[in-house]
Amino acid sequence: MAWRWQLVTILLWLPSFWTDWSKSSRGHVLNLDSEVPLSIASKEYRAAFHFQPPQNWINDPNGPMLYNGIYHLFYQYNPYSAQWGNITWGHSKSIDLINWTPLDIALRPSDPFDRQGCWSGSVTILPGDKPVILYTGINESGHNVQNIALPKNISDPFLVEWVKPSYNPIMVAEGVDPTQFRDPSTCWLGKDGLWRTTIGAEDFERRAKALLYQSKDFVQWRSAERPLFSTNSSSMIECIDFFPVSAKWKRGLDGSSMGSKEVKHVLKMGVFDNSHDYYLIGRYSEELDVFTPENVGEDDHRMWLRYDYGSFYASKTFFDSDKRRRVLWAWSNESDTISDDIVKGWAGVLTVPRAIWLHKNGKQLMQWPVRELESLRREKIELKDVEVSKGGLIEIKGVKTSQADIEVEFELPELEKAELVHHEWKLDDAQMACNEMDASVPGSIGPFGLLILASHDLEEHTAVFFRVFKTRTDYAVLMCSDQRKSSLWPELYKPVFGGFVGMDVKEGKISLRTLIDHSVIESFGDGGRTCITARVYPKLLLSGDTHMYVFNNGSETVKIRELKAWEMGNAQIN
Ligand code: FRU
Repeated sequence: MAWRWQLVTILLWLPSFWTDWSKSSRGHVLNLDSEVPLSIASKEYRAAFHFQPPQNWINDPNGPMLYNGIYHLFYQYNPYSAQWGNITWGHSKSIDLINWTPLDIALRPSDPFDRQGCWSGSVTILPGDKPVILYTGINESGHNVQNIALPKNISDPFLVEWVKPSYNPIMVAEGVDPTQFRDPSTCWLGKDGLWRTTIGAEDFERRAKALLYQSKDFVQWRSAERPLFSTNSSSMIECIDFFPVSAKWKRGLDGSSMGSKEVKHVLKMGVFDNSHDYYLIGRYSEELDVFTPENVGEDDHRMWLRYDYGSFYASKTFFDSDKRRRVLWAWSNESDTISDDIVKGWAGVLTVPRAIWLHKNGKQLMQWPVRELESLRREKIELKDVEVSKGGLIEIKGVKTSQADIEVEFELPELEKAELVHHEWKLDDAQMACNEMDASVPGSIGPFGLLILASHDLEEHTAVFFRVFKTRTDYAVLMCSDQRKSSLWPELYKPVFGGFVGMDVKEGKISLRTLIDHSVIESFGDGGRTCITARVYPKLLLSGDTHMYVFNNGSETVKIRELKAWEMGNAQIN
């Protein structure tokens, strides 16, 4: 596991061998006249309303739950450094999912069954309101085993202390690589009275398996005859999430809801090799205890949908029984270097909590920031019915655009004018298409969208935009988030992300919502159909002189039907 973070370090550091080494000390250069360090260590890169610990390293969200009116969120946390390692379960509580108070670390490595780390897992609330943690421990031999932890004092409203019974581990690898067997999912209860969990694993032929385990009492677990799902198209899959969705309503379902035609299931898997979260929609057969995806032809994970086409991994949902919604979080990693992180003293954020539901077409999930986030909206500006013709650039003035929430609806021109593509794109061609056709490459309908965290001369900016094409059979809408010009700092990872928006473009409009939070840009295309999260470190954040523009580089005029931009307040986070 640890090698992965090292590999990232090496890759990110390679270019720096070719740059002036005197620059490598930039992290320590302070401008004595100002409180703001003239470096990437500046507090200007820390988020104001995205979840993060007060300092040090965070990766996966673990075991989110609502318990007695209080939301709990655990997370993979290194209490000693801004790099991955010494993994514990950090713990925070909230009453609104937006403002969070830190609590003591819930799980630390302590016993032979988790001596080398308390890795990801989940919480299940058992009948009688008893929360239970299932997590992966890395034992003394470096093997992944599954453990249980229980609240020390169930009447403590904050559930601060957790105990690990001495009968741990409760599951050990059988027939799979013992170093690739982890992240037990939230459990569900079958009609036969057995609890079930699914665990990501890799067999000795390097095939991915969503293993299924069953238990009557949560103590004795046995492996089911068949996995819940397996695929030849990937090796290790991590942080599996398996949950029901209503084919009829937007509201969420409890994890054990099943058995009706109106209930479909989602199987989300984190593909270790590329750190992307993919999901499949399908049917779960209680009788056979297997999941069968719908509408997936070949067994190829690259053809599966993603929650988010950007920096987004190891996501986790929970059912909010109060508001009857399913809520999703994910880890968004830094894209600076590890040595930058050490100087900054922190690394990693979680995406904002998003409500998630099945689109009425039954074919994909929709996501939208939870309503509570709107409580941070402050100063507002609005634009209505503004045409943006070829080459147009309109500055959005009046709100601080380094901490903002923007919603814009574009009216599209005549679709007949769209550029023609002669080939059918595959789902995973979007990133390549965005790479080739950046915001400066003129088109017909688009590229149009937003230039975010932009300097006045546009030397620095992140472009989030759409482009509409006509294919032989239909239309295709491309959504891109291009970070290549996001920062003048040299050694950063500045990728281009892209996803197709499987929308009905004949309706003649498309919307974009973007949350800008210093180094986080989280975008939602067409009401949350296609989402892209980016991490950026513009130098201009240090001076505070950030600009935002609506642009159009297509030959056809697009119209801003409505644009609303709010400055966002600070959440109280840890
Ligand atoms: C995903 C992951 C999990 C593991 C955890 C360790 O990012 O690799 O599979 O449990 O991180 O921190």
